[in-house]
Amino acid sequence: MTENISVDKNKSDEEIYLQILPQIKSLINSDEPIISNLSNVTAALKEAFNKISWVGFYLLKDDELYLGPFQGKIACTIIKVGSGVCGKSALKKETIIVEKVDEFPGHIACDAGSKSEIVIPLLKNKKLFGVLDLDSYNYSSFNQIDKKYLEKICVLLTEELDLEKFILT
Ligand code: SME
Repeated sequence: MTENISVDKNKSDEEIYLQILPQIKSLINSDEPIISNLSNVTAALKEAFNKISWVGFYLLKDDELYLGPFQGKIACTIIKVGSGVCGKSALKKETIIVEKVDEFPGHIACDAGSKSEIVIPLLKNKKLFGVLDLDSYNYSSFNQIDKKYLEKICVLLTEELDLEKFILT
């Protein structure tokens, strides 16, 4: 059985990312199913940060994003590329930070309590495989520090896992 991640939540966000990054790296195992790897990454992030109300992956098939492994309340299952924060991030292939979701045109409210959000595209050689989405019940919860480390986590995933093999049926 894998040990739970060890994290000191009294530290700054950057220090927490520095604590969990090597642990997430050692959690990722390319011999195991992609879905298991993605699931544990969402659990590690949710465990590490009290500010996260929801964290999960949406995975691309054709021009739609499908709900993948996540931690939190039930969520919207299908998001069109181009729609909402997730779909815009997928379309632009860029991380999007939303300080106030009610001010983001087209924001999709899966949980009415959500106040801020960050979405990171899962990219390998500029090819899109999905997005990593994090929500918070507070405004302005995510910033450039989150962007920097969450992008690193997405790079670890796309480098270690053969996402080409992942098939959504
Ligand atoms: N708010 C997202 C939808 C996904 S939920 O937050 C889990 C969006 O606007 O794309």
